[in-house]
Amino acid sequence: MIFSDELVKWYNQNKRDLPWRHTTDAYMIWLSEVILQQTRVEQGLPYFYRFAENYPTVNHFAAAAESEILKLWQGLGYYSRGRNMLKTAQMVRDEYGGKFPERYDDLIKLKGIGEYTAAAIASFSRNEPKAVVDGNVYRVLARYLGISEPINSTAGKKLFQATANEFLNKKNPALHNQAMMEFGAMLCKPKNPACGICPVRTGCYAFTHNATTSLPVKLSK
Ligand code: ADE
Repeated sequence: MIFSDELVKWYNQNKRDLPWRHTTDAYMIWLSEVILQQTRVEQGLPYFYRFAENYPTVNHFAAAAESEILKLWQGLGYYSRGRNMLKTAQMVRDEYGGKFPERYDDLIKLKGIGEYTAAAIASFSRNEPKAVVDGNVYRVLARYLGISEPINSTAGKKLFQATANEFLNKKNPALHNQAMMEFGAMLCKPKNPACGICPVRTGCYAFTHNATTSLPVKLSK
């Protein structure tokens, strides 16, 4: 079985039931992805519910006072995220008639939305074939393929993006992307990865070369 199919099979049997996995609403997906950017799922969950309830649409969000958003954001840290979200929401209201964009090429033009978030929204909302590359994806690819290029060098970032696109299951990009992130978060963890129960370990460079602790490589700057 090819790598992506194995991961998707594992994902379908082991995934956590998370609210943003039940929606194709680009706005809700954006909310979840920005909240989760520097935040663990368990910590982010109550904030996601809070924001989704207070601002059910992007127009509700765009109409909010910055002080109100920052109050709801309290405890999450990186407050610039909350401030930038208000600007993004206002841009969607003013330039897209309040309809949150779903296409990668439209999303990437929005202030505050980078490659990762654009790929996540485009793939989860409309199954657009864009590979997400976050810390989980770096780790899974570096270990499985034995890539020792630093994940935070310019060359490394390019290499991992290209590799992630090659590995992407084009038939179901949304499922593939969720599976990659969940696999990295739950099984191929930074410390003590669960190689003993890993469905792809026989093809994994790091497992067969005893290199899980040394991959991925990150340059200290
Ligand atoms: N972290 C960032 N995005 C995520 C997602 N869609 N599911 C679980 N964890 C995530």
